[in-house]
Amino acid sequence: MDNAATSFPKPQSVLGAMTSYATQLGASAGRGAYAEAVETGRLISQCRERLNRLFNGENPDHFIFTLNCSDALNLAIKGLVFGSASPGIAIPGPFHAICTHVDHNSILRPLNALADAGVIEQTRVRVDPQSGLVDPDDVRRAIRRGTKLIAVTHASNVTGTLQPLADIGKIAREHDIPLLVDAAQSAGHVPIDLRAEHIDLLAAPGHKGLLGPLGTGFLYIRPGIEKKVAPLREGGTGSVSENDRQPDFMPDRFEPGSHNAIGIAGLSEGVQWVLDRGAEELFEHDRDLVRTFIDGVSTIEGLTYFGPQGVRNRVGVFSVRVAGFEPLELARALEEDFGILTRPGLHCAPLIHQAIGTAESGGTTRLSFGPFLSKQDVKYATDALAEIASRRAAKGAIEVPQRV
Ligand SMILES: Cc1ncc(COP(=O)(O)O)c(C=O)c1O
Repeated sequence: MDNAATSFPKPQSVLGAMTSYATQLGASAGRGAYAEAVETGRLISQCRERLNRLFNGENPDHFIFTLNCSDALNLAIKGLVFGSASPGIAIPGPFHAICTHVDHNSILRPLNALADAGVIEQTRVRVDPQSGLVDPDDVRRAIRRGTKLIAVTHASNVTGTLQPLADIGKIAREHDIPLLVDAAQSAGHVPIDLRAEHIDLLAAPGHKGLLGPLGTGFLYIRPGIEKKVAPLREGGTGSVSENDRQPDFMPDRFEPGSHNAIGIAGLSEGVQWVLDRGAEELFEHDRDLVRTFIDGVSTIEGLTYFGPQGVRNRVGVFSVRVAGFEPLELARALEEDFGILTRPGLHCAPLIHQAIGTAESGGTTRLSFGPFLSKQDVKYATDALAEIASRRAAKGAIEVPQRV
């Protein structure tokens, strides 16, 4: 139950595609005229086409492969900031960015690094401490002259809160400000429509809900927006080799160097698995698990779960505290006594832990679901939590382990 970190298991088709690439192709796309290199290029294009279909994008070539979601967010944020510099001037002009208290360090840290260097100014929009929801009107109020980016985390990796993306997207589009969405916890779990939700930049990992391997991720850049984004890396693309400047066409503008072909071959099958099952159906399955979890924990004395207190506005990511247990201690009991794998701590998202009041006490223990878990699995977890919670009366004598 740590699918929010990376999904496990992966579909058989993902493993099959990776094995088949490794044993039968083993080539670098665009780096040879032989059949294996051409076929590798076709596999990579096919993955872009599948992503474009899943998210209703405008052009498959606008899906840029990255190392993970953090890498995609860095490209979007720093690319926009450095892309806003006038020709011949290295330092960008006034650049104001908006993010939220629910964001992961993969948004907070790049923005803070730029703010600390004096390159940007930023406003962090608060969230409701109970639900973890951002009020779109707060986003609207934070807009000022020079706002050139709104970044928002679609689904929280701490509280599971699902933000009203279409409303925030509408505001961003009305003001002609690029909207960057961190879909680390929603891609593959929740239907996302790039056009209907007015998303300009979508960053996602390939290794979570899209069921690909670690080392995969992407940034979708809406056609037209790529002109505002500076490449952060230059290098060989296998195209226009006579030119010693980075090409400006997509996707080569942002993809120097050999691709992670084995990873993308696997990711492509993960995306196809999601397409076959259907994003709506996967979301419904997630809701069933959420309902089962909430039913199971609602009568456990001493257990608190954070974020929306019902199935609305959330995904199957639950942060819990059990009175008398440190987050790590609870995670250890779940693992050692029940074989349930969870993640204790602050989950790389310090501001949302401050908002919900768990930052000072070591965070929470997080259970996160995926498509291969059943309602029975979730019931097993809630029964385990009930049993652990019932031990706390006798717990005074137990030594509490050190926090990590
Ligand atoms: C909300 C959120 N954003 C970004 C990331 C970073 O993803 P990655 O590990 O693929 O860089 C995570 C990872 O857990 C996340 O939960």
